[in-house]
Amino acid sequence: MRKEQFHLPEGVIYLDGNSLGPMPARAVTRMNQTLQEEWGEMLIRGWNEAEWMSQPVSLADRVGALIGCPLGSVVLGDTLSVKVFQALSAALAMRPDRKVILSDTGNFPSDLYIAQGLIGSLEQDHRIKLVDPSDVEQNLSKDVAVLMLTQVDYRTGRMHDLQKITHTAHQHGIVVIWDLAHSAGAVPVDMSRSRAEFAIGCTYKYLNAGPGSPAFIYVRPDIVDQIIPALSGWLGHKAPFDFDLDYQPAPGIQRMRVGTPPILQFAALDASLSIWDGVSMKEVRERSIELSELFICEVEKRCPEFELLSPRDPQQRGSQVSFVFEHGYSVIRALIGQGVIGDFRAPNVMRFGIAPLYLDENDIHAAVEIMQDIMQREIWKRPEFQIRAAVT
Ligand SMILES: Cc1ncc(COP(=O)(O)O)c(C=O)c1O
Repeated sequence: MRKEQFHLPEGVIYLDGNSLGPMPARAVTRMNQTLQEEWGEMLIRGWNEAEWMSQPVSLADRVGALIGCPLGSVVLGDTLSVKVFQALSAALAMRPDRKVILSDTGNFPSDLYIAQGLIGSLEQDHRIKLVDPSDVEQNLSKDVAVLMLTQVDYRTGRMHDLQKITHTAHQHGIVVIWDLAHSAGAVPVDMSRSRAEFAIGCTYKYLNAGPGSPAFIYVRPDIVDQIIPALSGWLGHKAPFDFDLDYQPAPGIQRMRVGTPPILQFAALDASLSIWDGVSMKEVRERSIELSELFICEVEKRCPEFELLSPRDPQQRGSQVSFVFEHGYSVIRALIGQGVIGDFRAPNVMRFGIAPLYLDENDIHAAVEIMQDIMQREIWKRPEFQIRAAVT
């Protein structure tokens, strides 16, 4: 749909945009502009003259448009793990009489680690209840304070029904947090309609803003002014340049800001968001399903050793397809060796991100042909493909 707007290395078929999106071609000139014309020439004046200070909100509105958030309800900054902490601490404070955080075993470990760290420091007898993803709804009850889920499972690609689960959770008075790391730019999301209190996510996967690009947090506008941020940094203060000795939260979503925003990374995000201008998420979703169905069909035909881990029903799948194979790690290394980049999650999961902005049918056919060759000629058995790299 927009392939020409990405820099994709010669000879590479990139099936890992669910982990780190490729570089938007415009990122080079856009980042250079920030380096040379802004930081280089303006120096500290850039905060005013290049409007660096308002970017956490102005760029966030463009991210918010992709996940159905009203203007002024999203802010950018920090990493997703930090945003989990902010959302969860605020959500727990909204239900002081309840002690259970409900999540599922498909959640990303960092979200659970942050929850564990937070409840340890709160010392208020909170506990985390982890259930199987298919059992979430039947565990929604009046003792649950917060439901914290990642909509699309990073390992399997299984997708929760965000609207339905949020609705049921609210019937039990539960505050809801959605991690949209694998949803934003991948599947249509309508945060406003869901009425969920919080959403968080990152911009380096399907939003293609580069390694270490800032995370986002959405807070439902009618509750944001009741939140007392746990990370009460100076840029979330109502008047940071008064340098008051006491914290007073800024109005609205600005209070979820913490400290100095990553301006160089914002330049890459600006470049990547310009690719999204005029793209409909409905169309992206339709193409993602078409390409994923083709991928599954071809892999099952040509590589019968692989077992589909993702849901077969496309409506229950995000924009990634996962297969299991005992020697999946070696297969992924062999694929990467031939320019087909996917990734691996222990113990045996091979993940393939299907991002229609820069992939088409030719890529899918070519990737699966290489996969078949690797299996038929047992290329994956070569010693060089058995060595584990630090990042899989
Ligand atoms: C669902 C989910 N949540 C949280 C994280 C952690 O994000 P970060 O490393 O940006 O803090 C990730 C990282 O991939 C993720 O996939």
